Amino acid sequence: MLAAQALGKGGSVELRKVSFRYPTRPEVQVFCQFSLTVAPGCSLALVGQSGSGKSTVISLIQRFYDVEAGQVSALHTMLHSGCILLLAAL
Ligand SMILES: Nc1ncnc2c1ncn2[C@@H]1O[C@H](COP(=O)(O)OP(=O)(O)OP(=O)(O)O)[C@@H](O)[C@H]1O
Ligand SMILES: [Mg+2]
Repeated sequence: MLAAQALGKGGSVELRKVSFRYPTRPEVQVFCQFSLTVAPGCSLALVGQSGSGKSTVISLIQRFYDVEAGQVSALHTMLHSGCILLLAAL
């Protein structure tokens, strides 16, 4: 389970129509136009089978990888608005 919680009045945590594959495994399309929003002060839990992409969502929010298409607005927005982003990959 992955849980993301955005606290405070800053921007939400958002993935907009994200397409992504790992550079080392370009043959596997992990996300195709995937969208997700965690509004400020709200929590979101992602539950899915192994390999469904829960940890990848965390990695993209942390900007460990660049997306092929779409947009990620999270940490940057949160840091610059003085908010706290809690992430847990369980
Ligand atoms: N570092 C990586 N390099 C290449 N492919 C990866 C990497 N990490 C994950 N993948 C692939 O990306 C897809 C999504 O995997 P991910 O680890 O995000 O799933 P998960 O939902 O977190 O699984 P689990 O419940 O086992 O933790 C899978 O096809 C996986 O094999
Ligand atoms: Mg995982």
